Amino acid sequence: MLQIKRCSLLASLLFASTSLLTHAQPAPVVRVNVAQPVADIQPTMWGVFFEDINFGADGGIYAEMVKNRSFEFFKPLMGWKVDGKKRTEGDVLIQNRQTPSANAGTQPEKSTNNPRYVRITTSNASQGDLSMTNEGFKGMGIKPGLRYDFSVLYRVQSGNLKLHVDLLNAKDDVVGSGVLIPEQSDKGWHKQQVSFKSTAGEQKGKLRIWFEGTGVLDVDMISLFPEDTWKGRPGGMRADMIQMLADMKPGFVRFPGGCIVEGHDLDQRYQWKKTLGPVEDRQLIINRWNFEFAHRPAPDYFQSFGLGFLEYFQLCEDIGAEPLPILNCGMACQFNTAELVPMDQLDPYVQDAIDLIEFANADVSTKWGKVRADLGHPKPFNLKFLGVGNENWGPQYVERLAVFQKALKDKYPTLRLVCSSGTDPNGERFDFLNGKLREMKADLIDEHYYRRPEWFLQNARRYDTYPRNGSKVFAGEWAAQSDKTVSVDNKNNWQCALSEAAFMTGLERNAAVVNMASYAPLFAHADGWQWTPDLIWVDNLRVYGTPNYYVQKLYSLNKGTNVLSLTQGPVWKDNEPLAGQDSLYASAAWDKATNEVILKIANVSDKAQARTFQFDGVKKVAANGTLTLLKNEALDAVNSFENATKVSPVEQRIPVDVKKKALSMTVAPRSFSVIRINVQK
Ligand code: AHR
Repeated sequence: MLQIKRCSLLASLLFASTSLLTHAQPAPVVRVNVAQPVADIQPTMWGVFFEDINFGADGGIYAEMVKNRSFEFFKPLMGWKVDGKKRTEGDVLIQNRQTPSANAGTQPEKSTNNPRYVRITTSNASQGDLSMTNEGFKGMGIKPGLRYDFSVLYRVQSGNLKLHVDLLNAKDDVVGSGVLIPEQSDKGWHKQQVSFKSTAGEQKGKLRIWFEGTGVLDVDMISLFPEDTWKGRPGGMRADMIQMLADMKPGFVRFPGGCIVEGHDLDQRYQWKKTLGPVEDRQLIINRWNFEFAHRPAPDYFQSFGLGFLEYFQLCEDIGAEPLPILNCGMACQFNTAELVPMDQLDPYVQDAIDLIEFANADVSTKWGKVRADLGHPKPFNLKFLGVGNENWGPQYVERLAVFQKALKDKYPTLRLVCSSGTDPNGERFDFLNGKLREMKADLIDEHYYRRPEWFLQNARRYDTYPRNGSKVFAGEWAAQSDKTVSVDNKNNWQCALSEAAFMTGLERNAAVVNMASYAPLFAHADGWQWTPDLIWVDNLRVYGTPNYYVQKLYSLNKGTNVLSLTQGPVWKDNEPLAGQDSLYASAAWDKATNEVILKIANVSDKAQARTFQFDGVKKVAANGTLTLLKNEALDAVNSFENATKVSPVEQRIPVDVKKKALSMTVAPRSFSVIRINVQK
């Protein structure tokens, strides 16, 4: 409150000086036609793109702290260190079950989706004799005084082994511990849990299990979760990361990618059906970002699918976003193997899509509706969008898409299909697909642009000339690159964020054409990224939003419901949108829920610029509005863990001229402003 007051005093001084200035030379006028909105803004307009890249899922939003819990990485003990003064040959053995055994106990034998487990053999072991230590994804983030839930699948072969579970800090001091005494000795697999509280915090912790007693014990799915997951769900998501998304109120979540959908080859494509049910049955595969970039290798990057499609749908429901799953279209990544499914063998892929719609939407009496209900979510998810293919291109894509389109539209005519326009926003590949997709009456064409900041400024009018009828645009992946695509030098700096803010005025102005947009990628772990820039950066305990995040958030929270025409006055060529003249970019929206005009103004120059925004077609304007200002004089300014809000929005009240029904303001240099003013029409 105090801060707002101080800001409004400052603002009044600023505006007083502005009006003195404007006495000398009247500020150019920008006209906002409030009376006649020109198009609807879709509730889905601003969303997020999620992919398991940069340790976004495993080691990221999936709160599992144990890396390689199932011993299914290529190297079965990757992430684990076996130690102890009484180590003997064969005391820790990797077993690989060939078929599900009949030896089931009270829990069914685990399937061969997860064939490996570890057999521990000890004799009279005590502390220090034999231990297994897990290093976590990039270490384990431990919070002081928090409950941690350790669980394991075990099978007692003989004897009476106990598991002592210690949380360690970076110096190997114990900062929390529990003991798990297997309760079942019937030679079946059992899951058991022990919880304990940590006594101190640590950024790079570890988990050590040491064994006490004599016996032979099989262990698998060794897991550790913090208590404070998103909504407190056991085995759930990292709450601080999800909160960042929830705070944006995104219109949609696109998942699970990205190139991960396509896979390096078809075997490694994303298959949603394999991501459901008990986590021990979800078959792990290598993550394509493990080896994609020789300059950023990540040999310990796999997909455990602990987060699967049910969890992604649930996330969307939690944060009020439309789910937008993207499925493989029978083509592997064309930058990699470019494998194709022969046309006469495409049916299973199409069936996967049909089944997904049933899984998401159908009644519990249907096969896949029942699967959803059995997994604990009888209520349908009301899926409205589905993507066919990620960055796929060429006639091979068109012919496969046509099969999907026919099958899906025949059965679900209102479902809106997202179709790929390839990898780039121009060039032969794009032109070919854009033409074909429009002929095919594609619902939404997915455009991607990873380009330099200048491109974003030059393209602020990209959609002004797009056809108003026919296919709509999903700006599905984009981000300004301070260096160049896939360069490790790209930074999430203010110049990039500001150029995106300027470009987005063009998306908003053309909401009649652009129905959805999302920055990409979404998350990056500071110690484990492959691709930069990214919207949100995390380490094991912290998270911060980049300047780009705040731009996205401001658009999303100030979406409005209708586009208003905003044109420059007679100083320039009349009736042109403000899209780069004098380095200013602006758009206007109407919010029918709150009766507010929302202005978005990016000033990419280093000069303050006076403007008068004249509201046409209104009876009354409120005497004050709200200005949310994102600015920095330095184009290379970035946020960081240490200075997470260096470039972040500040809110203040601003006076409006009720008589003239106009707002006169000085737009700060290198700034992005969002202004909300209550208006009576
Ligand atoms: O966002 C990173 C990658 O960029 C995506 O996986 C892919 O679709 C694009 O090439």
